[in-house]
Amino acid sequence: MEKKIVTVSIIGLGGRGGEAYGRYLITQKDKFKITHMCDINPVRLHKYGEAFGVSQENRFDDEDKFFEKKLSDVLFITTQDRLHVRMAKKALELGYDIVLEKPISDDPQELRELSALAKEKQRKIMVCHVLRYTVMMRKIKEILKSGAIGKLVSIDHTENVVYWHEAHSYVRGNWRNRKMATPMIMAKCCHDLDLLQDFVGSRCKAVASMGSLAFFKSEFKPQDAADRCVNCKYVDSCTYSAKNVYVRGWHNVGKPLNTFPFNLITDAYPTTEEALMEAITEGPYGRCVFACDNDVVDNQTVIMQFENGITATLKMEAFVKQGGRDIRFFGTEGELELNEGQGTITLKKYLGADTVWKINELTDDLEGHGGGDHRMIDELYEIMTGKTPEVATSLDESIESHYMALAAEESRLEGGKLVEIAKFRG
Ligand SMILES: NC(=O)c1ccc[n+]([C@@H]2O[C@H](COP(=O)([O-])OP(=O)(O)OC[C@H]3O[C@@H](n4cnc5c(N)ncnc54)[C@H](O)[C@@H]3O)[C@@H](O)[C@H]2O)c1
Repeated sequence: MEKKIVTVSIIGLGGRGGEAYGRYLITQKDKFKITHMCDINPVRLHKYGEAFGVSQENRFDDEDKFFEKKLSDVLFITTQDRLHVRMAKKALELGYDIVLEKPISDDPQELRELSALAKEKQRKIMVCHVLRYTVMMRKIKEILKSGAIGKLVSIDHTENVVYWHEAHSYVRGNWRNRKMATPMIMAKCCHDLDLLQDFVGSRCKAVASMGSLAFFKSEFKPQDAADRCVNCKYVDSCTYSAKNVYVRGWHNVGKPLNTFPFNLITDAYPTTEEALMEAITEGPYGRCVFACDNDVVDNQTVIMQFENGITATLKMEAFVKQGGRDIRFFGTEGELELNEGQGTITLKKYLGADTVWKINELTDDLEGHGGGDHRMIDELYEIMTGKTPEVATSLDESIESHYMALAAEESRLEGGKLVEIAKFRG
């Protein structure tokens, strides 16, 4: 029997639609074909149209024309945060199955409306909580499920954002300001909140949170610093200078042809030093980190109580050198620890020796969120061909993690008061 080719359209050809998913989809020629695409940016439409072999007549620069009719089996919605619900509603009306980028929305009313429409239209929606698909998180679930640590009592979870990533995305970049993006605890950590509810196996009951923008603000700008790094006397000495982050940083990692974050500040492909210099001389990523229009936090802590009695803490921290998640699970018979930076999962039974798994021995593909970007697409094929019945990252479960983030932000803004999740469910 001939193998089914799932046809795919992509709206939003940026870091996610173009780089993370599009470039992997075209390597899976026996499973997927990208047939149509839409982006309002003509440079990107051309760049990815050529890269993915999409014909001129199937490239759209206008959302309204793109949504006139259903064009493929699946639609990837990979535009910025604020456009997801509008586009998902149009897609559901046309009968698409959808891969939907997170965060879905920070408006609880919109979330409830989308959930109701999805139920009415009975389409498949896979939300891009890519970490759930990683081999490391699945290994952790397997260990927890095996009962190896006894009864799970609490979890301590740290998301190490990394100093330069904070500057890139949350000071200079697309998620820097609440007017243009969701709160940082949602933009960065709805993955973590989603993982926590999945590990705990229960909905969250209430949260409290504190956090602040501690550093990236004008009061910390040296008086004689310039607004743009290339014109600044501290261009070489400042930890956050755009030249240090993007140009020296690119050299330090071996001048990669097409790697985050360098490939997101310029559309030049492959990346060159000239293109990076041009981007920091003219574009938003060359601004002084103390002279941007950013207002989102650089540190936040959330305390959670789940309906089944388990408690958890989540710390989102900008000021760290190495990225990845550190998670500790505390059980009645032992501890379980993920140290993503070191690449290990350790089971510490109270009686008996420790067991250590090396993450790079569990899988040979750790690219893009520890391999999650690719594994999600692999599972999409299983879903679309009926081999796997249920999406691991369903809309309704994902929406719960968004309510947790909304409650955390409300709590933070109100000095750490306890906020019940039930009120967001409507
Ligand atoms: N799953 C994850 O782990 C993960 C990681 C990073 C980002 N994200 C999320 O993915 C989404 C996309 O992020 P990104 O980094 O790719 O953003 P991006 O800005 O690089 O790309 C978005 C693209 O959408 C295009 N666009 C804007 N308005 C449009 C319209 N009306 N019609 C068609 N195209 C339009 C833009 O021109 C741009 O090319 C965001 O919501 C982000 O929060 C998810």
